[in-house]
Amino acid sequence: MQSEQIQAHSQKKILNCKDIIVKFGEFTALNKFSFHIDRKEIHFLIGPNGAGKTTFLDVLCGLTKITKGKAVFDNDYDLNGKPEFEIARMGIGRKFQAPTIFPYLTVQENLEIAMKQNKKVFSILKAKMTKKEKEKLDKQMETIGLTKQKTLIAGNLSHGQKQWLEIGMVMMQEPELLLLDEPIAGMTEEEEEKTGKLLQELKKQCTIIVVEHDMDFVSKYAERVTVMHEGALLSEGSMEEVQNNDKVKEVYLGSKGAV
Ligand SMILES: Nc1ncnc2c1ncn2[C@@H]1O[C@H](COP(=O)(O)OP(=O)(O)OP(=O)(O)O)[C@@H](O)[C@H]1O
Ligand SMILES: [Mg+2]
Repeated sequence: MQSEQIQAHSQKKILNCKDIIVKFGEFTALNKFSFHIDRKEIHFLIGPNGAGKTTFLDVLCGLTKITKGKAVFDNDYDLNGKPEFEIARMGIGRKFQAPTIFPYLTVQENLEIAMKQNKKVFSILKAKMTKKEKEKLDKQMETIGLTKQKTLIAGNLSHGQKQWLEIGMVMMQEPELLLLDEPIAGMTEEEEEKTGKLLQELKKQCTIIVVEHDMDFVSKYAERVTVMHEGALLSEGSMEEVQNNDKVKEVYLGSKGAV
């Protein structure tokens, strides 16, 4: 597709990626991978270990540079060569696998810092929040289900609660596109269930891409699914469509006992 065509096609899309190649030296981690997502969609990215899922998220948040190909966000913002801070400011929020919360601060303080990321920690905590900021913080705390824990030290939260807090911290920046890498890893069943509900709630606020290995979770919450294999697109569609795809059965789902 020519660049004008990509742009026209992307009007409805929040993200449009075409033939992305990422090389680490001689190794090709993404091999002409194409991907698109509509606004307010929740899209799951699945595939065997080493398929390139995390690398793709790294590309989208500016952590890894594209070797070749095109990634366009929000109709006309070309992600190629853009620094992480600028991409974050443009509206792509990334939650990493390991929580990066401030363990010695409270839940509320963590969210407050996330809201005013451009200031220094101590000046943030000294400065009073405006009424509007306070409302925004309280609303997000409610969404992530941590209102009761607001004065608790974040380091004392359960694993699941830490994950939700970090999702809340990313959401304080009001991203248009939220990227989550294996959000339920290490969670109890109850925490998984709560995370699923949280994703459905967050979908009202932004578009979400979730990398996940747990097929029960994917089946339950996915609208569309993209399957990656060896850095390339293997299949894309509804969960049912990809589950019935022979190539997907062969390289991925078969090995997981999911078919
Ligand atoms: N910085 C890097 N340098 C060299 N190779 C890398 C680098 N980052 C990733 N790779 C390689 O790229 C391939 C894709 O890795 P990636 O982490 O994207 O896979 P993944 O689909 O997220 O796998 P998993 O399900 O295990 O998390 C792997 O073979 C990995 O070893
Ligand atoms: Mg990964």
